[in-house]
Amino acid sequence: MNIIRVKDYDELSEKACELLVNEMEKSDSSVLGLATGSTPEGLYQKLIDEYKKGNLSFSNVTTFNLDEYVGLAASDPNSYRYYMNEKLFSHVDLPDEQAFLPNGAAEDLEKECRDYEALIKDAGYVDLQVLGLGLNGHIGFNEPGTPVDSRTHVVELDESTRKANARFFKSMDDVPKKALTMGIGTIMESRQIILLVSGEKKADAVKRLVNGMVSEEFPASILQKHENAILIADEAALSKV
Ligand code: F6R
Repeated sequence: MNIIRVKDYDELSEKACELLVNEMEKSDSSVLGLATGSTPEGLYQKLIDEYKKGNLSFSNVTTFNLDEYVGLAASDPNSYRYYMNEKLFSHVDLPDEQAFLPNGAAEDLEKECRDYEALIKDAGYVDLQVLGLGLNGHIGFNEPGTPVDSRTHVVELDESTRKANARFFKSMDDVPKKALTMGIGTIMESRQIILLVSGEKKADAVKRLVNGMVSEEFPASILQKHENAILIADEAALSKV
């Protein structure tokens, strides 16, 4: 896994934006894998800026998001579909029918997972996948112990993950207990992966990622085995490495 060290969050977002723009210029039908959470917000803003300057178009791009909470409809402000609409989709020319997230409100969740996996396969898998890093090493919502060959599936969220995400909800009780997530096997099939990590609170996780062993107990460590994975981290996140 290559490491790109940047000064701060702004530079991290800039670098990630550059890589996505490169990918979109390379192909006329890129398949991008996207994440939610705090980390990619700066990246999405920079992509919107580039789009508004007329430097890029999403008209031939297809996107697949990593995950979605179970039980939240697209109209729920805490759903990841809502987040993506707010932070990126509604500001650029990405056609609605080319922007995919698993449907957390589906009646048959197992079928939804199978269908999502089939859609990714039909699109030829992801060209460039954006990831954030959970404090416990999760990628997507693949919590510690998730098998490395897992495909899109329903997960029981760790208490630590629910607490980390509680800041977006009115109370801890409102944080969903389950989610749908691409599996680690699905993520590893992406041709290129960029893992974005910013801030001192992630420093212990980054240390374990960079210096630790590959282990299912720390899901992101599997990225060490990917041929084209890049960690983009700022000085604060790398402060313990
Ligand atoms: C989000 C996702 C999660 C986050 C991770 C880090 O779609 O899959 O793995 O990337 O929890 O979240 P932030 O960026 O909020 O620290």
